[in-house]
This record gives sequence, C-alpha cells and structure tokens, in this order.
Amino acid sequence: MSMIREFTDRAMARRICLVYGSDDPEDILFKRDLADLAERHGNLSVHHVISSPPEGYDGRSGFITAELMGELLDDVPAKTFYLCGPRAMVRFCLGELEKMGVPKKRIQAEVPGPPRDVALLPGWPGDVKTHDRFTVRLKGDKSIEAKAGEPLIVSFERAGIAVASSCRSGECSLCRVKLVSGRVFQPPGVCLRKSDRRFGYIHCCAAYPVSDLELMV
Ligand code: FES
Repeated sequence: MSMIREFTDRAMARRICLVYGSDDPEDILFKRDLADLAERHGNLSVHHVISSPPEGYDGRSGFITAELMGELLDDVPAKTFYLCGPRAMVRFCLGELEKMGVPKKRIQAEVPGPPRDVALLPGWPGDVKTHDRFTVRLKGDKSIEAKAGEPLIVSFERAGIAVASSCRSGECSLCRVKLVSGRVFQPPGVCLRKSDRRFGYIHCCAAYPVSDLELMV
C-alpha cells in the first residue's frame, strides 16, 4: 500500500497492476482506498481474487495463477513482480511465475512470519535444540510449556492465551510482553524500540525461549 501511495502521490511514470488475493471479500483491506486511487490514476489497476467466495459472489475467484496473470498482463516475463503475503501463497505464486518464464531477478518477495528453522540464524545458542521445552511462568497467572523452536506467541496460542498481534514478524510492537526473568533468542532484525529494550520488553512473535522464563503478559 505504501508503495502504491508513493507512486500515485508522486505521479511517477509506472504502471502498477495489483492482484490482491483474499480468502473472503470481507477480508480485503483498503478496499475503498484502492478503488479511489484506481479511479483517479489511470496507471493503477486493482484486481481482487477470492479463494473462498461466498455463495453468489460474481467477482474473480480461485488463486493467483499463471493463467490469471496472463489474462491481466501482456509480456509477463518482462514485468517486475512484488509478492507479499503468507508463505504458502508466496510459494504458490513463485511457482506460477516460474511457469511463465519470469526471471528470478524480476521477483521480490516479502514473507511475514517466523523463519523455517530458527536455529540456523546467527546468534542462536548452540547448546539449545529447537525441540527443547521450557516452562514459561506468567506473572499472576499460570505456567505454560514452550518449545524453543517456536515463537512464544505460538506457545501462548496453543495454551489458549490470546495475545494481540498484527505483523507476526517483530515489527509492529503489538505483541510485546515484559520479560521478567530468563533468556530469549530474538532473531537479528527484530525492531525493538530503544525504551522496550531498556525496560525488558520483547515481541513474543519474534522471541524464542532458550531457558525457563517469567513473563508479564
Ligand atoms: S505482532 Fe507485530 S511485533 Fe509481534
């Protein structure tokens, strides 16, 4: 969205074709803003694709396939593609682009979410295995068990504890909790505010237990 706004606000000479996949029409974010922008800027086109359409839905449905891209774009291999979304969707779309002969250098992908194997990241403590389990004591409440190789937010959810979240990749701060004691691994690049770092807050979507912990949720 920020890239689209940048292009349209600055009236940059680019053509943008947004192919926006959603599970349900109700899930579409910025629907009205996108429609307004497309109406005002001839170089932006917006196409919604719904994977689980409700009965009677008459828009495009299914996945973002090679066939669909061939319908929407001419000379597909010459375009530049920016993919953003869940890992499964990005993987699927990469396969479709490959089928169409789009060279890798023309594809950028942004995949929010935890890494596939956190132990391969620099700084992971060598004496901790991803299947190790630790006890997480929640101040004033119960204790739960947490696997080292899973972000803490996943262990909370397994235990039926809902924590507010949005990006699930350590960027928005919505899931922050206070680390009272113990050690967590935080992958390089996690955007903790200076004050959070100073007062012991962590983003539980991007923090992995590497010892028993006590947290304030
Ligand atoms: S959900 Fe955004 S930082 Fe955790």
